[in-house]
Amino acid sequence: MTKKALITGITGQDGAYLSDFLLKKGYKVYGAVRRTSSINTARLSYMDVLDNIELVSMDLGEITNIQRTIEKIEPDEIYNLAAQSFVQTSYEQPIYTSDIDGIGVTRLLETIRNLGGKPKFYQASTSEMFGKAKESPQNEGTPFYPRSPYGIAKLYSHWMTINYRESWGIHACSGILFNHESPLRGSEFVTRKISLGMAEIKNQKRDTINLGNLSAERDWGFAGDYVEAMWLMLQEEKPNDYVIATGQTHSVRDFTEKAAKAIGIDLEWDVNGSNEKGLCKKTGKIIISVDEAFKRPAETDHLLGDSSKAYRELEWKPSVNFESLVEMMVDHDIKRVEKGLVWF
Ligand code: NAP
Ligand code: GDD
Repeated sequence: MTKKALITGITGQDGAYLSDFLLKKGYKVYGAVRRTSSINTARLSYMDVLDNIELVSMDLGEITNIQRTIEKIEPDEIYNLAAQSFVQTSYEQPIYTSDIDGIGVTRLLETIRNLGGKPKFYQASTSEMFGKAKESPQNEGTPFYPRSPYGIAKLYSHWMTINYRESWGIHACSGILFNHESPLRGSEFVTRKISLGMAEIKNQKRDTINLGNLSAERDWGFAGDYVEAMWLMLQEEKPNDYVIATGQTHSVRDFTEKAAKAIGIDLEWDVNGSNEKGLCKKTGKIIISVDEAFKRPAETDHLLGDSSKAYRELEWKPSVNFESLVEMMVDHDIKRVEKGLVWF
């Protein structure tokens, strides 16, 4: 029998990669979309999967809608990727973020419980829960210390997922995924902001990219690799929680240098003034400047994941390294900017 998967957050980065992955595995894929004033399926079109997915209307804020949709579809697996996922916005919209990223997950879990616990459940948890990390690298046993309303809401839903597994026997897994990027990443996230900015500099459409904290360190992987780990978790006989990461960390400054190199610019850093600047070594032009508006009220300074458990139990390993990821993102953006086709 054909397996049915329901993906919430299907219009986002991971939704597009996961749809493609599950369709290739032979799944019937349902994609939950919230009502907006314009249809937001650019990533699904970009991945060439839109025609093979059935879109259904669902908002994580509305329990009745969630119940009716899940009852009707009767999915075998639910992948909950929907969230207010931008950390910076969560400081300005803490209540909305808590509702969707926190309580929204309980709405889904309650629905599954009321249906006798049948669909398997994947929760998109995050390394942002480690926040002011108590140790490095971080694994499934590392204590949490979230630093943003987003991280706190996600920590609540992480524990709810575990609680529904332990209380009601639901096959519920929490994937603690470290940052993962791709050419489909939203342009407000730092990696895509840099890759798109560099492509625009190359095409003489801008001179400078304004960034916030250049010293923040992240364990950046490729989204296409990470959606496979989501699926692998749900195929395990016993549900569990897994850290998914590359095991390498780099600063925003490192990412910027590599991205500049990909458009033929060698950067040097001027740290003498009050604001650090990234200058083109050859021309002295300012390529990177620091704008306080992009700094956060409380920062997650250093993330580095230890995925030994996933390597061991899921036989999952990342296939794209940091250098290839940066080049992939810049290359895609150069082509899009040249063609004037920047949709997300
Ligand atoms: P994304 O590109 O921002 O996509 C988020 C998705 O959630 C979009 O489809 C969005 O719909 C949907 N959504 C937002 N609010 C909703 C609501 N009230 N009801 C229904 N849908 C709603 O995020 P992503 O990078 O693909 O990440 C997927 C998930 O993994 C998120 O939960 C994120 O927090 C988590 N995560 C991401 C990373 C990462 O590095 N990417 C790491 C760890 C965890 P619209 O298109 O309508 O906005
Ligand atoms: N967005 C952004 N814009 N971030 C900047 C900038 C800037 O101009 N300059 C520096 N940064 C720093 C941020 O302060 C942060 O330390 C780091 O770059 C990464 O920021 P984001 O790309 O916005 O990602 P994030 O780590 O906050 O959150 C992402 O990863 C989480 C997993 O750890 C999101 O995808 C979350 O949804 C996800 O859970």
